Amino acid sequence: MDERPMSTPAQGWVDVERGLVSRDAFVSDEVFRLEMARIFDRGWNFLAHDSEISAAGDYVVRRLGSAPVIVVRDGEGDVHVLLNSCRHRGTRLCRADVGNARNFVCPYHGWTYDQAGRLLTTTFDEHFPDGTDFSQLGLVPAPRVAIYKGLIFGSWDAEAIDLEHYLGDIRWYLDALFWRTPGGMEVLAPPHRFRARANWKVGALNFIGDSQHVRTTHAGPMTLDAVRAAKEGFLNLGQDSFQVVTDEGHGCTLSYLAPGMAEKNYRTHPESLRPLYEQVLGSDQMAMLHHLRVAVGNVFPHFSFIETQSVTGEKSILIRLWQPLGGTEMEILSWVLAEKEAPDDYKERALNSGIHNFGAAGVFEQDDIELWASATEAGSNRIARQYPYGFQTSLPYQDAPETDHPWPGRAYRPANTEVAQFQFMRRWNEVMTSND
Ligand code: FES
Ligand SMILES: [Fe+2]
Repeated sequence: MDERPMSTPAQGWVDVERGLVSRDAFVSDEVFRLEMARIFDRGWNFLAHDSEISAAGDYVVRRLGSAPVIVVRDGEGDVHVLLNSCRHRGTRLCRADVGNARNFVCPYHGWTYDQAGRLLTTTFDEHFPDGTDFSQLGLVPAPRVAIYKGLIFGSWDAEAIDLEHYLGDIRWYLDALFWRTPGGMEVLAPPHRFRARANWKVGALNFIGDSQHVRTTHAGPMTLDAVRAAKEGFLNLGQDSFQVVTDEGHGCTLSYLAPGMAEKNYRTHPESLRPLYEQVLGSDQMAMLHHLRVAVGNVFPHFSFIETQSVTGEKSILIRLWQPLGGTEMEILSWVLAEKEAPDDYKERALNSGIHNFGAAGVFEQDDIELWASATEAGSNRIARQYPYGFQTSLPYQDAPETDHPWPGRAYRPANTEVAQFQFMRRWNEVMTSND
């Protein structure tokens, strides 16, 4: 392979012809600062699940782009996203990750705001000049907040396109995972939060479609019950498996049970919920879920999701956020969800299985994060940075989406190429090099 150092930022970081991406995209704090300006402080960012703040006054503290925000529900049921920084001298108002508050009182000089961010008192209002307009001194609100099927997103850009348009074709797949019963999903516990010494895009790429790492990275847990796994074909993917990508850089990989596995007691979805799915989903989406073993995907830039099944058959659905902290560090937030109507014992199993596999100490998580950190450690020096990352297995496929695929998005088979990952990088490069 040609190992020439590649591309300057003016041309971008992605070499479309050769299937290469500059390592600077994965290790540079300069690139990180540009990402904050061009992607995260402008575009739509996932913030929270509706069910985390179900009552008036419930709040969680998250990041919207580079800024800390409070995501709070007011007495009318509306969700506000407020800069978590006092209008007086900038102090962080909310110190807890999660809670319920009637008002937000600044711990410095006592300015007090209501659940919608309106300033109620400075405690020294009488010393302000006559005519001061206190209504202009509320907490800075994110101008755009939207909820899609329980998923709360925000943007600092008042001109951002509608969230539904932004999500585009990936909605069809999100719907079948996040709103497939009349009540929708709920989070089963507060998210795990943990840091990894790796670039946030490594997580996004892993989830949009990295089937190639599973057999090696996860050889341990995949074969914990090695005899059964091998005998029953757990390591094989069904022929129907495919990747799908959309114009905005979203995508997912759907892996189906290999022939014969479905008959061997590998539960796909709980039977008791099936009639509820049929009330909400169309026959196409029901067909999509049929014999689905793992659905894993990413909404550009950093919202990932996975519905997975362990070798012992438990199903769990997780949301992931890869929050960038720098060129080589991210914070990971990880939620486990289940259908609101699911029986309590099912929810308990789903939560246990989700944490066991993908919690901060989960068996799959630990496998992945050690390797991601080792790539950062070995790959961020001046010598290694001259050599690009390879996505060559996308090249023979990227111009050949299926022509007769029945479902939204551009679909590619087989599911174990780097097509979805490379299209994510191409979209990232477009946004990073655009002049608008
Ligand atoms: S900084 Fe908040 S009241 Fe002064
Ligand atoms: Fe993994």
